[in-house]
Amino acid sequence: MAEFLLPKNSRMKEGKTFKAIGAKNVKRFRVYRYDPDSGENPRIDTYEVDMDKCGPMVLDALLKIKNEIDPTLTLRRSCREGICGSCAMNIDGTNTLACTKACSEIGGDVKVYPLPHMPVVKDLVPDLTNFYAQYASIKPWIRTQSAPPDRERLQSKEERAKLDGLYECILCACCSTSCPSYWWNSDRYLGPAILLQAYRWIADSRDEDTGERLDELEDPFKLYRCHTIMNCTRTCPKGLNPAKAIGEIKKLLVARQG
Ligand code: SF4
Ligand code: SF4
Ligand code: FES
Repeated sequence: MAEFLLPKNSRMKEGKTFKAIGAKNVKRFRVYRYDPDSGENPRIDTYEVDMDKCGPMVLDALLKIKNEIDPTLTLRRSCREGICGSCAMNIDGTNTLACTKACSEIGGDVKVYPLPHMPVVKDLVPDLTNFYAQYASIKPWIRTQSAPPDRERLQSKEERAKLDGLYECILCACCSTSCPSYWWNSDRYLGPAILLQAYRWIADSRDEDTGERLDELEDPFKLYRCHTIMNCTRTCPKGLNPAKAIGEIKKLLVARQG
């Protein structure tokens, strides 16, 4: 019988525990720690946080840990209001934004890991180089052939409404890193976030390169690795529906075959 073993450096060990001495309202945060340069295996550190002296969101707790308990903890964040997408991570088993996830929604210990199936730069910071290169590959800007108008390119209200549910995407990568097809084929499959973005430009009435955009997506790997598993839509912290956008692209490809 075939035996499968995880690579040695993927096995996690128990790390340190930081106690909140004297605190009455304690919540425990079990946080993934990994420094690939150290040669050490990943570990789970446990931080007790005094919730009477902490903001309500998981990001508040992580920043309290970094500022007051353990400055070596590494994470990304910027806007702290669900706009920049940089604090995306796996919290309590779901990919989401740490700044909009309330600690009170989580019963028991709060388990915090980086976005799954991505190389880890350090601790909670995934390497998104491939994700951003895939975004660049769809040329995410308006492409036109007609001469520029004197002023802006106008849209009707109805045309503008077609971008609702698309333009709100903050490229946090929660959806792509929850998609099994993306886990196994992220070198060739674009994944739900990038495909939603691709459809955002296809659906834009001002863009004149729809045919070429569809040509670029008509590929067994780039698009058709989506098997409608729907993890992407379930996990999107902005309530968007990447699976529907992927379905719309597939419909357009079928429609143009005549
Ligand atoms: S579709 Fe949602 S989960 Fe995916 S990148 Fe955009 S905002 Fe994030
Ligand atoms: S619907 Fe498609 S993109 Fe979304 S999780 Fe499933 S396979 Fe991935
Ligand atoms: S810090 Fe910007 S989305 Fe969370």
